[in-house]
Amino acid sequence: MSFLDLAYKRHSVRSFKEHKILEEHLEHVFKAAQLAPTAANRQPQRFYLIENSQLAKLSEVTRYSFGAPLVICIGYDKTISWKNKYDGIDGGDVDCSIVATHMMLAASEVNLGTCWVGSFDKAKLKVLYPLPVDFEPVLLLPIGYPSDDSRPHPLHDKRDDWKSKIV
Ligand SMILES: Cc1cc2nc3c(=O)[nH]c(=O)nc-3n(C[C@H](O)[C@H](O)[C@H](O)COP(=O)(O)O)c2cc1C
Repeated sequence: MSFLDLAYKRHSVRSFKEHKILEEHLEHVFKAAQLAPTAANRQPQRFYLIENSQLAKLSEVTRYSFGAPLVICIGYDKTISWKNKYDGIDGGDVDCSIVATHMMLAASEVNLGTCWVGSFDKAKLKVLYPLPVDFEPVLLLPIGYPSDDSRPHPLHDKRDDWKSKIV
């Protein structure tokens, strides 16, 4: 599959089958995460896996887990991430965004569905789950096999002309 075919194929999935993800498919997704570039190659990305009995209380953190069998909280170790000396901005957010994008595309390649979830209560997440102290959550990624009636959202195909983005 060409890169553009894969980019067309990926879409946000918001309805999942219950069954667990095959180990080889999960490895494929994490391999893609490993290959992502990070600032100064610091590789600060960290993954907190929420599954099985831990999933129920996630409803207190976000409305958007969509019944996925696994929700990966993607974040970074803030003691390791690169800091920009010019503005003090922590590179961890950007690193995790690239990592997550790799993961979403790789997931799509093996017919797994994902949805980037940015709308969640970070403070509540930290209270309800034993996250490492230096872990800074960036997004939640529900992941699993799309349910049979899952379809891309109508907005998925609405993309502005790329030429209109040149400033
Ligand atoms: C930074 C970011 C935050 C997002 N947060 C949410 C979210 O909280 N809930 C949700 O259902 N989708 C969320 N999405 C998914 C977008 O709504 C979706 O990617 C967009 O509408 C384009 O559709 P597509 O992914 O199917 O191409 C988020 C996407 C991004 C990049």
